[in-house]
Parts: sequence; C-alpha cells; structure tokens
Amino acid sequence: MLQDQFGREINYLRLAVVDRCNLRCTYCMPENGLQWIKQNDLMTDEEMIRICSIFTDLGVSKIRITGGEPFVRKNCIQLMESISKLLGLLDLTLTTNGLLTTDYIPRLKAMGVKSVNLSLDTLDSERFYKITRRKSFDKVMKTLESLLKHDLKVKINAVVMEDENIEDIIPLVKLAKENPIDVRFIEEMPFNGGNTPVSLKWNYERILEHIQSEFPILEKMEDPKSSTAYNYKIPGFKGDIGIIAAYTRSFCGDCNRIRITPNGELRTCLYEEHGINLKDELRLGKTDDELKSIIINTIKHKPKDGWDAEKQNASSAESHQSMATIGG
Ligand code: GTP
Ligand code: 5AD
Ligand code: SF4
Repeated sequence: MLQDQFGREINYLRLAVVDRCNLRCTYCMPENGLQWIKQNDLMTDEEMIRICSIFTDLGVSKIRITGGEPFVRKNCIQLMESISKLLGLLDLTLTTNGLLTTDYIPRLKAMGVKSVNLSLDTLDSERFYKITRRKSFDKVMKTLESLLKHDLKVKINAVVMEDENIEDIIPLVKLAKENPIDVRFIEEMPFNGGNTPVSLKWNYERILEHIQSEFPILEKMEDPKSSTAYNYKIPGFKGDIGIIAAYTRSFCGDCNRIRITPNGELRTCLYEEHGINLKDELRLGKTDDELKSIIINTIKHKPKDGWDAEKQNASSAESHQSMATIGG
C-alpha cells in the first residue's frame, strides 16, 4: 500500500496521456502560444505501461486516463487495453471532452471500462463555440448519446462561468431527469495556461442556490470518501447532481490521488508546478525496484495541504499551467 507521511492511502492515479487538445476552452488554455511537449519528451506507450504496472504493484487500484481528449494520442485505445490487463487494477476510467471518443466506446466496454466523465459546459452550440473556440458541439452530443446507449455510467463536468453558461445550469440539471447521468458543476480554477485571474462569481454556494431556486427539493447525499463533489439527489431523477468546489474547498484532508503528466512527471498534488520525472529515471536505466523506491519516497513527501499553500500565494500574479498539461 502506498501511503504518505500523514497516513493518506494513495490508490488513485490520474494519467494524462497527451497535452495537446482539439478544443481551446477559455478556462483551460489560450488559443495560441502554448509550449507543447516535444515528441521525444512524451512518454511512449511502453513507458506508460511500465510505470502504471509499477503503480498497480504498489497498490494503486484506480487509473483515470485524462486529456483533453485522450484519443488525440495515437493508439490510445491499445494503450488502455494494455493498462486494463494490469494485475490489481480494479477501475480503469477516463475523462474526455468527447470529440473522438464515440468510435472507441465498444472497445472501452470490452476492456472493462464502466464509466466515463465527459466535459460539457453548455447545451447550446453557439455558447459551446464561444467557450471552446471550436464548432464541435454535435460531436460531443453524439458521444453522450452513444455512451448512454452502451450503458456506460456518465458524469458530465461543467465549469460554471459568469457571462458564459449560467443559462445552461438548469437545462444541464434536467438532463439527469430522464437519463442516468450525474451532472457536476465545477468552480473555475486558475489553471488556464496563463495569468488570467479567476473572478469566481459562481462559487459553490451560489451554484447551489441557483439550482435550489428551481429544484427546492434537492436532497444532500452522503459523499463517498475522497469525492471531489458534494452530491445531491432530486427525487424522481435518474442521475445525481454534484457541485465540485474546486476553488474554494480543500480536498487535501483525504486526498487519495496522484498525477502523471504526459512527459512523465509524478505530481503528488494538483498545485505542484513540477515533480520528479519518472520517464527520465526510467530512461537512465533504473530497475523497477529502484523506481519503486523513488515513488515511495516521493509520495511520502506529498504536501499536507497544497490548496492552502496556493491560497497563501493567491495574490501573486504568477501564471498557472493549463489543466490539459496536468490532466485535471
Ligand atoms: P470521479 O473519479 O468520477 O470522482 O472523478 P473526478 O472528479 O476525480 O475526476 P474528473 O476528471 O471528472 O475531475 C473533475 C474535476 O475535479 C476537475 O475538473 C477538477 O476541477 C476537480 N479536481 C480533481 N482533482 C482535484 C484536486 O485534487 N483538487 C481540486 N481542487 N480539484 C480537483
Ligand atoms: N477550472 C476548473 N475545471 C477545469 N477543467 C479544465 N480547466 C479547468 C479550470 N480552469 C476541467 C474540465 C474537465 C476536467 C478534467 O477539468 O472541464 O472536465
Ligand atoms: Fe477544454 Fe479540456 Fe481541452 Fe482544456 S483540455 S481545452 S478543458 S477540452
């Protein structure tokens, strides 16, 4: 079992397979000027599989493949098929913007994927274009339909932004009425690949009040341990409603997650700017046992409360990495 010095068990790995994205969501990255990871600095499939197998050996039981759109990475489906066979892995899942996922759904099911988190901030194609700077709304909706048709559990992630998608909150909630979709609203965070500050006009409380004004019968559910969302039920609805207070709340107390960036950095906290590069260690010829020692030691030093440290620095105008590089 992997444990840090504060007794937190680490069993959830988020593997960002690609930094490039086929959307340009304004809250995530600028249209131009981002420095993409160079081809030879990206982990190869073999390196990713080896690193994942070391982590499952060490007790990681859940791996989430993240993008952007993970399928922007060439052969991502084969990579996932290999990862799905790792001993000790109980849950393989993915977070995607949905643009290229549709065609892979049968293979995702066949390898044992049970759920998919889909980023979708609006149900209006014009607003979708304004937020993502791409005209791809129909593709995402097609993926959503297909995920439901194939009985995959779907969670929609919607980042809530003043002047962008407030009129979408209630229609998105209503999606959960007839469909087994969990709809989660996310506070905007400053991970936008620049130094644009977040005004956070829509925090957790305001989102909640807005939903309650239309659905006063919102019932608070018990949240699973390490849940990112506060979860609610609306009687008669097939799906649940969640609010992720990503900006205002610390998840650190019972954090069970670590991240690997596409170039192989191990980030023990979302707020870390850098981490030890496991791919570089691997390319230097380290054995699995040597890599395990590095990982165990790095995880021991996972920060107690990265969120708190971030808040202390909030006044500095430093730029933040794009969420696409960190993998959410
Ligand atoms: P489940 O495994 O289905 O619970 O998904 P998840 O919420 O862990 O993953 P997902 O990729 O859907 O991420 C949803 C959102 O949660 C991301 O956009 C982030 O905004 C937020 N999030 C994830 N991890 C953290 C974290 O460690 N800290 C904070 N503040 N936010 C996080
Ligand atoms: N703030 C909050 N959530 C974000 N995401 C991307 N950028 C941000 C941000 N700046 C979300 C995406 C995706 C998840 C992995 O991260 O909507 O669903
Ligand atoms: Fe949008 Fe996600 Fe791509 Fe960022 S990584 S541009 S949030 S789809």
